[in-house]
Amino acid sequence: SETYCWVNASGVDLQDASHYPEFEQAIERVRAHPITAIPTARVHAVHEDITSTPIVSPAEQTLEVGRVVEATIDDVDLAIARAVAAWPTWMQVSVDARSQALEAAAETLETQLFDWAALISLEAGRTLDDAVSEVREAVDFCRYYAQQGRRLFGQPLVLPGPTGETNRLVWQGRGAWVCISPWNFPLAIFIGQVAAALVAGNTVVAKPAEQTPLIAHKAVTLLHECGIPTEVLQLVPGNGAVVGKALVRDSRIAGVAFTGSTETAQGINRALAAKNGPIVPFIAETGGINCMIVDATALPEQVVDDVMVSAFQSAGQRCSALRVLYLQEDVADGIITMLRGALAEWRVGHPWRPESDMGPLIDEEAARQIRHHIEQLLQTETLLAKSPVTNIPHSGYYIEPHVFGISRLDQLKREVFGPVLHVISYKASEFEQVLQDINESGYGLTLGVHSRIDGFAQQVFAKTRVGNTYVNRNMVGAVVGVNPFGGQGLSGTGPKAGGPNYLQRFALERTYTDNV
Ligand code: SER
Repeated sequence: SETYCWVNASGVDLQDASHYPEFEQAIERVRAHPITAIPTARVHAVHEDITSTPIVSPAEQTLEVGRVVEATIDDVDLAIARAVAAWPTWMQVSVDARSQALEAAAETLETQLFDWAALISLEAGRTLDDAVSEVREAVDFCRYYAQQGRRLFGQPLVLPGPTGETNRLVWQGRGAWVCISPWNFPLAIFIGQVAAALVAGNTVVAKPAEQTPLIAHKAVTLLHECGIPTEVLQLVPGNGAVVGKALVRDSRIAGVAFTGSTETAQGINRALAAKNGPIVPFIAETGGINCMIVDATALPEQVVDDVMVSAFQSAGQRCSALRVLYLQEDVADGIITMLRGALAEWRVGHPWRPESDMGPLIDEEAARQIRHHIEQLLQTETLLAKSPVTNIPHSGYYIEPHVFGISRLDQLKREVFGPVLHVISYKASEFEQVLQDINESGYGLTLGVHSRIDGFAQQVFAKTRVGNTYVNRNMVGAVVGVNPFGGQGLSGTGPKAGGPNYLQRFALERTYTDNV
């Protein structure tokens, strides 16, 4: 039907070098007009002595991109009170009007693509390619949820009335939602969560990752300009341990959407369970120990291309990224040799330079954890390949990609969120054990399969418990409306962002039975 017709944002062709000066100019503009992220309730009450802290680029520690005024417990309390008070009016606003606000925001994001991409690159260290794709994804989330909102919430569903009564089913927002988003997609995931909650008829208190409040502030400002009232969408920048904790412990909230680490999701789950008051839904999208299975029939060139993108694009800082590559032993040596060649060409450098394949890690702590992991593996495992260090700037959190051979999946106790790939060689006779090990990891986000045997990938799909399975392609970059995204088990509660059943998770159903 017409409502299912869906076209993604077109983006720009980055093979065309004429775009690079546009991007460079946008970088200069962003640097010339630094943003200060402020809790929404305080935007009109800023005193000169207000305390703000610098946001420094992960790509260059001497580069201050903007400043943040972190929310206090009082700001959180006020934001929730305002969001709760604004909800009865907001839920009466037609879904068409709510959708129009999102569509207006999408329009602006699309026309100002390079300015948004430049801020993402400066604040989060994302490459030009990643940053442009991210703006495109943000546009898609706004448009897709606007469209799906109209489809789902536009009209009540008329149900049969066998005894002569009339029956109607309607969807409504639930109240004041809390959205907590990560730094690795500081615009797309932030605006995706917020857009879904708003169009479903909720008010929102949004806490962006502490590393990336500036792009979140810019997105909230845009949505306000596009018609979302300020009390309906409020930003509370700050630290998870203070702001995040206060938000999820509050008994006035109607639900939580969270994307981030498994450990934090488990903490939120416990906090929600421990408090009194209404029982509220929790949408969690976390990490994974994501695997790719390559059998002896796979096309080696394609495998290597897809492994490079899946494991090392975005410096491996995607929840979808490949962590463990299973190679059937007959082809393992050949593929590792080709991977070595690809890594020799891989360029780590300033994310806003067009020649960089990969930028920095997000901060000192992330870099410390990855360095520690590499040092541990160097003591016991085989280093199969790594990329050269010559291009790496000194003043950012850069770590070159490493590939290690390991023997068992359960050597990895948790997600390794960076450019480290682990390779396990398996015999054809061990195939069932490979699938069992993947399931027993407890994670279930993405899985790659490379094979030219009919039925092989379907067999893997049927026997594994994973949210997104990708066959004969890379396993990152889920496209809105095309690859609905989300995992299970330790990887999340299951809802698929960018899919046709996502908005329902933010809303509730009511029935109206009238014995006319
Ligand atoms: N949705 C992203 C991807 O598919 C991960 O968050 O790569």
